[in-house]
Amino acid sequence: MCGIVGYIGSGDVVSVILRGLTNLEYRGYDSAGMALRDDGTIKIYKTLGKLINLKNELESKRKEIIHPTAGIGHIRWATHGNPSLVNAHPHTCTCGKLVVVHNGIIENYKELREELLKKGCKFRSQTDTETIAHLVADEYASSKDLEVALRNSVIKLQGAYAICVMHKDVPDVIIGARKHAPLLVGIGENENFIASDTPAIIEYTKKTIYLDDNEIAIVSKDKVKITNTKGKVVEKKTEILPFEPVALSKMGFKHFMLKEIYEQPDVIRNLLNGKLYDISSPIALNEVKIDKGIIKNLNKIQIIACGTSLHASLVGKYIIEDFTGISVDVEPSSEYIYRKTTTDESTLVIGVSQSGETADTMTAIKQAKEKKSHILIITNRPDSNMARYADSLIPVNAGIEVSVAATKSYTAQLISFYLLALHIAEIKGSLDEKYLKNIKHELIQLPYKIEEILSNTTQIQECAKKFSSFKNFIYIARGINLATAYEGALKLKEISYINATGYAAGELKHGPIAMLDETMPVLSILIPGSITYEKILSNSEEAKARNAKLIALTSSDDKNLNNLFDIVIKIPKVSEILSPSIACVPLQLLAYYIAEFLGKDVDQPRNLAKSVTVE
Ligand code: F6R
Repeated sequence: MCGIVGYIGSGDVVSVILRGLTNLEYRGYDSAGMALRDDGTIKIYKTLGKLINLKNELESKRKEIIHPTAGIGHIRWATHGNPSLVNAHPHTCTCGKLVVVHNGIIENYKELREELLKKGCKFRSQTDTETIAHLVADEYASSKDLEVALRNSVIKLQGAYAICVMHKDVPDVIIGARKHAPLLVGIGENENFIASDTPAIIEYTKKTIYLDDNEIAIVSKDKVKITNTKGKVVEKKTEILPFEPVALSKMGFKHFMLKEIYEQPDVIRNLLNGKLYDISSPIALNEVKIDKGIIKNLNKIQIIACGTSLHASLVGKYIIEDFTGISVDVEPSSEYIYRKTTTDESTLVIGVSQSGETADTMTAIKQAKEKKSHILIITNRPDSNMARYADSLIPVNAGIEVSVAATKSYTAQLISFYLLALHIAEIKGSLDEKYLKNIKHELIQLPYKIEEILSNTTQIQECAKKFSSFKNFIYIARGINLATAYEGALKLKEISYINATGYAAGELKHGPIAMLDETMPVLSILIPGSITYEKILSNSEEAKARNAKLIALTSSDDKNLNNLFDIVIKIPKVSEILSPSIACVPLQLLAYYIAEFLGKDVDQPRNLAKSVTVE
């Protein structure tokens, strides 16, 4: 996945594009580049590694940049061709007059490349993107119209693309096109933008037009025209972005991840607001557009998601089955899309995605839609592509999440599942009234309990310091917190590169126990009141007998735990069914502080990108 920023206008072109790319850095960061229309020519700058290198390069070349009037910038996460200067975007045609930046994958690029080579095009990189540059230039040679050239080119492309092009001989315009990859137009005063995502433009304008698949945006500094691939003008709605630029500031925190962890109490309050007024009123989840009669008879739910969203979905399964008795399957999107599923028109399919862009989940949703299932999307990006496929949409309203490791969006997904399950349970009448009220009461209390954890992190920091030198970790839990163990382990590996695995505690003795010795710490999630509490204690004892160092994450007051465990991390008391939403917080913090002690790049861990727009 990559980030694109195109700008045309009277502002400082270099600064605007760099600002935009900075706010898209979550999309990729292995190389970056910019092409400027300056003094009648096209000037290209590229650097390897993070965006700061491009900033420094442009700073050092400031004297040769005279008065640019437009530019296109790119931040890359390599797919075709390793991260290198030659593979960094923008790419050019043979004569260098046409420049292109691209996000996505062109599946038929090899065939196109063969044809273009025969026509005499000179390729310099290993990328699929360079093919686009030659293709559009070839079309431009015959049509002498950049819009027509791009239109004739995109119909030859197979795969996914968001593209932005600029041509030396067409001074007043930048042109974008998209298919299966996000692209939007930002509308300013005497300036306009093309970008992969809203953070790129939010500091300049809130007015946006989201392009749909097969649309082309012809953008000059005071005019925007959108056409389809037949050249017909498409009337588009201008939307006003719901975010404030302040969402992109660290607000005094050292990293975005830490800021986002601390935002979780407010994220929950925000999400509950208007949906859960008090314990006696029914959940107001008007977002769910399924007929009540259908909900009453619903007997199959499938949840599809990836990564952290998949872990939230595993918790969701427990909650929905517990509250409603409806059978729920959870599957990684990347598995769902390559098999014969039982999805049909009576299945409720729930797609969960922070970004609303993840390619595997997107494909899965499209497949389910073709089977006429009701599609419910839980996402932090109601403006995303995925949201457009939703019959029902629950926006989790966590605010922009900048750190690559998902934290607040995870908690918000969990809360959405509680609200959804309660809503269904109320329609079905499947919960005892007293239990229902207790759950609602506890939900309202959750933000305060998380604030309690966040108000004193000394013990978590000490634990992080003590354990940061270990190379492997095992997290164990049972029941609803198995997903918490998976998620805690994922957070640790993502940002510290320490090998951590979550296991069902009962599975330990079926294999993983062989790995246990003094070099393998075991973190146990123990929620008193659950029928498995004692079982996990026994599993922890088994680990201790193999000399493993032990960490407990628990709400228990049992002093004896201090004899068994090397460190006991306390969380406030909460019933087991709600515990994942607070147990995840110390695990996020533990991962954060370990990565911090190890000096890792917390917000932008290696090899990862915030949303994965390739399958
Ligand atoms: C981990 C993380 C990833 C994402 C996954 C799915 O911190 O962020 O595992 O959860 O790539 O992304 P979304 O939720 O955007 O579909």
